[in-house]
Order: sequence, then structure tokens, then C-alpha cells
Amino acid sequence: MRTAADNTSVRPRYDVARIREDFPIFRRPVYGRPLVYLDNAATTQKPQAVLDAVTRFYTQECANIHRGIHYLSERATESYETSRLKVRDFIHAADVSEIVFVRGATEGINLVAQTYGRTQVGHGDEILISAMEHHSNIVPWQLLCEEKGAILRVAPINPRGELVLESYARLLGPKTRLVAVTSVSNALGTVNPVHEIIRLAHERNIPVLLDGAQAVAHMPIDVQALGCDFFVFSGHKMYGPTGIGVLYGKERLLDAMPPYQGGGDMIRSVTFEKTLYNKLPYKFEAGTPNVAGGIGLGAAVGYLESVGLDAVAAHERDLLAYGTRALEALDGLRLIGTAREKASVLSFVLRGVHPHDIGTILDKEGIAIRTGHHCAQPVMEFYKIAATARASLGLYNSREDIEALVGGLRKVNEVFR
Ligand SMILES: Cc1ncc(COP(=O)(O)O)c(C=O)c1O
Repeated sequence: MRTAADNTSVRPRYDVARIREDFPIFRRPVYGRPLVYLDNAATTQKPQAVLDAVTRFYTQECANIHRGIHYLSERATESYETSRLKVRDFIHAADVSEIVFVRGATEGINLVAQTYGRTQVGHGDEILISAMEHHSNIVPWQLLCEEKGAILRVAPINPRGELVLESYARLLGPKTRLVAVTSVSNALGTVNPVHEIIRLAHERNIPVLLDGAQAVAHMPIDVQALGCDFFVFSGHKMYGPTGIGVLYGKERLLDAMPPYQGGGDMIRSVTFEKTLYNKLPYKFEAGTPNVAGGIGLGAAVGYLESVGLDAVAAHERDLLAYGTRALEALDGLRLIGTAREKASVLSFVLRGVHPHDIGTILDKEGIAIRTGHHCAQPVMEFYKIAATARASLGLYNSREDIEALVGGLRKVNEVFR
């Protein structure tokens, strides 16, 4: 009979070296040095399985989908629709009709603003977001508010970069038509208490859109357990191709929403007098979609599941704690974003050094980080800084990567002190 201790001992070790072998990019040097890639919040590298799936489409089954009756079109349609099923299972949606393929998180949010928003939001109504949103979850709502004479409300954050829940709850009012918040902040790494955010909104019958762009590659997602009404994410931030992403919406809501764009595939029949729209999710997918991207996204889901999101989350948690301790020990370094619940992101400033100089010096060491406002200018304004340097983790990062980062930052300090 197995004991608990036996179980622990047989659990496969998280083997970063083995995982890195799945990513061809790590075979190439950068400036003659091994690549240390710490810009995963911007985009992730692609495993061979994703590259193979995209190549297979173009070399073995390249055709337009849905309309063709020939062999290649049927194969391509099957691969594309199989990806949709994989995505449904990946985020635990109730039905495949709730999975709309879009270009990415940005397009998903714009789609909701321009369809749900335009029909449900009127003069004097309110949309509630948070102070840590990416521009993609600010500007579409500003456009809508401008058009409708509605008001954008912003729930504040505290100095750690955590949402102030009491203020959020107070801002939910009779005129709030939608809450749109990020699951994980790309600029701070804050993991928001989304269950509580949704519970408080739903108590008042207010639907919730979650921006999952920084969540999907780092933690398991179950949209039914969450109960969120919309959930958006981008394939390229979860080891999939660029130009493909997902809008999940509850069927009841998607059904009631008007189409986003008009064109081929989103129709059932067209006459000059009247067009009948296709069923979900195709009603929202006008024109030839990113077929290769959709197929690649399915492969990315398969890859993430083969590593296991629980294992990824545990590994990245360990790295984040290790990285936090190592960075905090550096002379003049201040972490921006010290929430109690964080994922993947180490944003920081170094006294007397512009973040762009940090990025440039690290780059010459083969270390890729991001510097700037991270498309979250209001966050920078809150901390009264122009920019941060940001190292963000992925499933292939190791303690050696963190050590390389720390070594690079010591060099920065030597140059500037
Ligand atoms: C939190 C968050 N939301 C939305 C986006 C936009 O994603 P995309 O540019 O892939 O549409 C990003 C990208 O960095 C993000 O970090």
C-alpha cells in the first residue's frame, strides 16, 4: 500500500532543463550568450509542438475552412474546430458555442464593448474598471462611454498594488452596467481576488468581464467555477501563435448580443433586404479567420496541459519568491507591486538609473526584460514614476535565469554608481 510519502517521492520532478529543450529559440545565442528570456508578460516563446502544428497546417492541410467540401478544407476545418474544443476544456466552458476566436485579448474586450456595451449601456450609466488595468481594458470603455454619455468609474489600488475591495464594492451602484477587471496585472503582478469581485458584482446583478491575458499561462482557469460572464485572453501569451485569442462569453449573453463585424461566415443567409446571422460562435467570426493561429493555439493548450498548470504555477511561485528575495537584496532597488498574491511579474526601479538603461545593459548580456509603462500608464502615475523595468516569468525559466538577472543588475549598479 502506498503512503503519502511514497506519493510525494514518485511525483515527477519539474524538469526545467527538459522543458527548455521543447523551445527551439533557446538553442540560439544572443550576442554570443545563452538567451535569458524574462519578457513573458509581453509574449512567450513557442514550443516545437506549436511550431509543428502551424507548419502541418500550411504543408499538409492548407485550405479555407467551413465552406469547402474538398478534402483539405475538411481536414483544416476539423483541426480548427478541434482547437476550439480544446480551448473549451482548457477554461472549462459549458459549451463550445461560448468560445469565440478573436485576434487577442484586446479584440475580445473591444468586441464586448462594441456589442454588449453598445446595446446595454446608456446615457449616465457606469462601467467599473480598476486602477491597474492594461490600456486594452481602459480605452475600449472610454470609447463606449464617449459615444453613449456613460461614465467610467475606477476602483482604486493601495500602495502594494492591491485592489481596495471596500472601495470597489462601494462603486458598484444601480447605474453600473458592467465590471471589467484584470485577473492578473501585467505591470504589477497582482493577482486579483476575482471570486470576490464577481460575487460582489453578481449580488447586484452586474455582469463581469475578466481580462485573463496574464492569467491563462500561469494558473488553471475554470470560467464556470468563477462564474464570470466574459473572459478574454491571447494565444501568444500562453505559448501559442500571435494574432489569435479567445473571447469566452456565457451563451445567454452572446446570443443576445448583435454581431461585431459583418462579412463571410457570420451569416446564415443574405439578401439585399435582410441578413440572418449564423449561430454561435460564428456570428462573431466574420471573414476568413486565423486558421493557422487557431490550430497553433490548440497545440499550445495541449502543451500547457502536458506540463500541467498546477505544476507550472508551483514552479513559477517558487521562482517569484526566489526572485523577489534576490532583487530586494540589491542596492537601490525598489519593487513596484508588492501584493500579497502575485504571479510571474517582478517590476522594479533602480535608484538613479533610467529603466531603459537597465534594459539596454541587460540586453547586451543576452537578458531580455521589458522597460517602459507596460501599457498601464495610470499605474505609473499612481506610483509617480515614468516607467519600470519588468522581468516576467514563464514555465521554462529557472533559478539560473534569476541569477543572471541579478548579476546583470549588479553590473548596472557598477556602471551608474
Ligand atoms: C493584462 C493585459 N490585458 C490585455 C493585454 C492585451 O493583449 P493583446 O495585446 O495580446 O491583445 C495585455 C498585453 O500585454 C495584458 O497584459
